[in-house]
Amino acid sequence: MKRVEGSRRERVRAMLADLKMPGALEAVDGILAQADGGTVTATEAIEQLLSAQIVLRNNRRLQTAMRSSRLPAIKTLAQFDFAFQPSIKREQIQALHELGFLERAENVVLLGPPGVGKTHLAISLAIAAAESGRRVYYGTLAALIESLTEARTAGNLARRLRVLTHPALLVIDEIGYLPVSQDDAVLFFQLINARHERASTVLTSNKGFEEWGSVLGDEVMAAALIDRVLHHCHIVNIRGNSYRMRAHQDLLRPASENRSEGART
Ligand SMILES: Nc1ncnc2c1ncn2[C@@H]1O[C@H](COP(=O)(O)OP(=O)(O)O)[C@@H](O)[C@H]1O
Ligand SMILES: [Mg+2]
Repeated sequence: MKRVEGSRRERVRAMLADLKMPGALEAVDGILAQADGGTVTATEAIEQLLSAQIVLRNNRRLQTAMRSSRLPAIKTLAQFDFAFQPSIKREQIQALHELGFLERAENVVLLGPPGVGKTHLAISLAIAAAESGRRVYYGTLAALIESLTEARTAGNLARRLRVLTHPALLVIDEIGYLPVSQDDAVLFFQLINARHERASTVLTSNKGFEEWGSVLGDEVMAAALIDRVLHHCHIVNIRGNSYRMRAHQDLLRPASENRSEGART
C-alpha cells in the first residue's frame, strides 16, 4: 500500500514537471505532508498547490514586465497605507486593481499634490496588469514626449505612436511638473488620440484639469485632450499630506498630538 502511494506521488511529480508547473512541483511534498497530517483538507491542498504555481507565474510575468515596461520601482497595493491618506476611497482603488477598466479601455487619472501616492498607485495598477499577463509601459510625460520627438526627427513618428498604443496599460506620470511647448503638446495629444477607446491610460498630475491649458501652452488643445481622457475615465482626487514628509511632520509636532490630528491640518 505504501509503495503504491509512493509511486503515485512520483507520478504526480512527473505530471507537474510535464505540465511545466515548477511552482506546484516545489510545493507539492510539503502540501501532501500537511494533508497526511490532517492539518489541511483535500480542497485546501489543491488550492495551495495551484496558488503556489500562480505565485510563481505572476512573479515571472512581473520580472519580464520590469525589463520591458520601464517601471521605475515595484510598488504594490499591499504596500499602500490607506490610513495615511483618508481622502482616498479604498473600495475605488481595490476595484480598479481588479482591472475591469482595462477590458473597457477606460482611463484612470490620479490628481493631487506631491508625495500623496499618485505614482505609487499608478505603478501598482501597472503591476497588477503585468501579473495578469498584460503588456504595460511607464513613462513620465517628459520622457514620452522626448521619445516621440526623437521618432519625429527620425521620420518614425507614426510607428512610435503605434508602439505606444500597443500596451494594454500606459502610465503617463508627472503631467504638470514641467511646462510643455506647444509642439510637444501636439505629440501628447496625438498619443492620447491614438490610445483613445483602444487601450487604457493612467495619468497622474499635480495640477487640476483647469490648469492643463497653461501646462500645455494651448487651452484649445488641452480641452480636446481632456475631453478624450475623460470620455471613459475614473478620477482619483487625492487631498492630503506628503508621505515623503511624514517623518518630518512627526518631528515638527508636539508629542501629545497623534497622527490623525496632524493629517487634518
Ligand atoms: N499611503 C501610502 N502608503 C505607503 N507608501 C506611500 C503612500 N503614499 C506614498 N507612499 C510612498 O511615498 C513615496 C512618494 O509617493 P509617490 O507615489 O511617489 O507620490 P506622488 O507621485 O504623488 O508625488 C513613494 O515611495 C511611495 O511609495
Ligand atoms: Mg509621482
